[in-house]
Amino acid sequence: MILSPSLLSADFADLGRELAELEAAGLAWAHLDVMDGRFVPNITFGPPVIKALRRRSGLFFDVHLMVDAPERYLEDFRAAGADMLVVHAEATLHLQRTLAEIRRLGMRAGVAFNPATPLGALEYVATDADMVLIMGVNPGFSGQAFLPTTYAKVREARRILDGHGRQDVKIQVDGGVDPDNTAELVRCGADVLVSGSAFFGAPPYAERLRTFMNAARDGK
Ligand code: DX5
Ligand code: ZN
Repeated sequence: MILSPSLLSADFADLGRELAELEAAGLAWAHLDVMDGRFVPNITFGPPVIKALRRRSGLFFDVHLMVDAPERYLEDFRAAGADMLVVHAEATLHLQRTLAEIRRLGMRAGVAFNPATPLGALEYVATDADMVLIMGVNPGFSGQAFLPTTYAKVREARRILDGHGRQDVKIQVDGGVDPDNTAELVRCGADVLVSGSAFFGAPPYAERLRTFMNAARDGK
């Protein structure tokens, strides 16, 4: 399991230091939530902030775009230093084209599904994606309660991907993840877990990482 801490719950006044602490604690990924105030009710940050953070960090930048028509900004995020762009299936009309374009630009491509969105589209983009993000909450804010319907959806995503011979495609879960639901999520087939409030709310980070990883081991 890979743990990808969501910077939404970090200290926004000191993100450079937060990234350095994550790296020192042994994390390999950082989850960056971009919100446009339209696809989701909240507004966060965009390419200029990511570009500034890139200069400070060698972590894998897993950029979650909660943005309408994200295809407008793919090159900007590439130039800012994103390693992976995750777009919502609900937000981009030509999903296959958007995923192919992200890869063409040299980044990993991910597709996200809100809790009430069926996974049907995944049947048609299974070979265009490097990761599938199953939301555990309706996106917009950290600290929301995990929706238990997520478990069955992770299993379904795994089944669809395996059916297309894509055992290599990672499944990420984001929203309401904590050490208590980690084992079951891993058991259902999750490979990457995002955590905001449950991770940053309980420092030190190295110890928190260990707690999540131990919980994940119980799910194997
Ligand atoms: C939710 C964001 C998440 C969020 C997770 O809209 O996409 O990445 O920060 O926070 P927690 O883990 O607190 O639910
Ligand atoms: Zn997110």
